[in-house]
Amino acid sequence: MAFINDNYQKLPGSYLFSEIAKRVATFQSKNPSAKIIRLGIGDVTQPLPRVCIDAMKHAVDEMSSAETFRGYGPEQGYEFLRDKIADYNYKRRGLNVDIDEIFISDGSKCDCGNIQEIFGLNNKIAIADPVYPVYLDTNVMAGRTGELQSDGHFEGVVYLPCISENGFSPSIPTEHVDLIYLCSPNNPTGTTLSKDALEMWVDYAKANDSIILYDSAYAAYITEDDVPRSIYEVDGARDCAIEFRSFSKTAGFTGTRCGYVVIPRELTGANHHGERVPLKNLWLRRQTTKFNGTAYIVQRGAEAIYSEEGQSQVKELIGYYMENAKIIREGLNEVGLQAYGGVNAPYIWLKTPNGMKSWDFFDKLLNEVNVVGTPGAGFGPCGEGYFRLTSFGDRNNTIEAMNRIKSNLNI
Ligand code: MLT
Repeated sequence: MAFINDNYQKLPGSYLFSEIAKRVATFQSKNPSAKIIRLGIGDVTQPLPRVCIDAMKHAVDEMSSAETFRGYGPEQGYEFLRDKIADYNYKRRGLNVDIDEIFISDGSKCDCGNIQEIFGLNNKIAIADPVYPVYLDTNVMAGRTGELQSDGHFEGVVYLPCISENGFSPSIPTEHVDLIYLCSPNNPTGTTLSKDALEMWVDYAKANDSIILYDSAYAAYITEDDVPRSIYEVDGARDCAIEFRSFSKTAGFTGTRCGYVVIPRELTGANHHGERVPLKNLWLRRQTTKFNGTAYIVQRGAEAIYSEEGQSQVKELIGYYMENAKIIREGLNEVGLQAYGGVNAPYIWLKTPNGMKSWDFFDKLLNEVNVVGTPGAGFGPCGEGYFRLTSFGDRNNTIEAMNRIKSNLNI
C-alpha cells in the first residue's frame, strides 16, 4: 500500500481560486445567459508588450536553425536576463544585487511555494493574515504546521493580523519566529509596507536570526515615491531577506511564466551542527535537481522589457490596470463601500456591507450583478468581512461591473 502525505488532508477544501472557478462554473451552468464579469483571480487580460512579442518571435526563429538552437539553458537562467534584472531593478536604484544572486524561474507562485523546502521542518513560521494562500498551504503540505483549529488558524503558525486598525501593516511578533513571509504591495489588501515598517522587520530578523521571505511580485505597481520597491532598500536586508519578483503582473506573463528569486550570497541558515550554510547554494541544489529552467523564448521575451521602449510599454500596461483600479475604488466609494488599496497595487480590498461574511458577499455579487470577486476569508481568518476585486480586467468590463454594482447591487 502506498501511504499518502497526510499533511495534505489538513488543508480544507480546494485551493482558493479553484474553489471560486468551481462555484462560478456551477452558477454559469444554472444561468447560461448571465454575462459574468470576472474580477476574482488576478489574471491579466491585456496583450503582452510589443517588445516581448517581437523578442519571442525572434527567439522562435533562432530555434529553427542548428546554429542558433538552444537546448537546456544555464541553471540559474540566461545571463542576458539576469544582467538586465540586476541593472534595471537594483543597480539603477542604488542597490547591490549581483547576477549570481538571481535565479530565474517559471514564476513567483512556484518560487514562493518551493522555497520552504530548503528550510528545516522545525522552523517556526510567521505569516501575515490575510495573505496570498500559497505561503501557508505549502508549509501545511510540508508538515511545518499542526492541525487546523476552529478559529481558522493552523496550530504552530504565528499569524500577523493585517486589519484596517493597523493600516494592514503586520506588527512584530512578541515571540521568536524563524521564517517570516511578507508581501508588499500586498496581495490581497493592495496596501504596502513603509520603509519604517520594513526597517523594523529587518531589525527583528537580524536580532532573532530569522529569514524574511519578501514577495514583491507587484512592485511595478507602486506609484508613490516613498514606498520601497525592494526589501534591499533597507540597510542590513541582505543579511536576512530573500526577495521574490515576477514578470506575471509587471509585463502580463501570467500565461507565459517567468519570475525570479534573489538570494544574497551572505544569507545563511544553520545546519544541525550549528554551522552556517549559504542559502543560495541550497536553492541552486534544489533547482538544478527539480527544475530545468524557463524556456529560452520566454527569457528573451522577459529581457525585452529592459530597454527604453520596453520600459515605456510596461508603464503603459500598468497605467491601464491602475486606471481600472481607480474606476473600481471610486465606484465603491460612490455606493458607500469602504475600499483600500488600488493606489500602489492592482487589488482593491473592500469592507463588506453590514458585516456580511465574505463568501455570502461573493454569492450576492455573483447572483445580483454577475460579478466575480474573491472572498477575503480565503486569504486567512482576518480577511473575513472583506472582499477583493482585481483591476486586471478589460476596461469595458471593469466599467460595466461598476455600473452594475452602482445600479443593481442591493446593499
Ligand atoms: C491572485 O489572484 O491572487 C493571483 O493571481 C494568484 C497568483 O498570482 O498566483
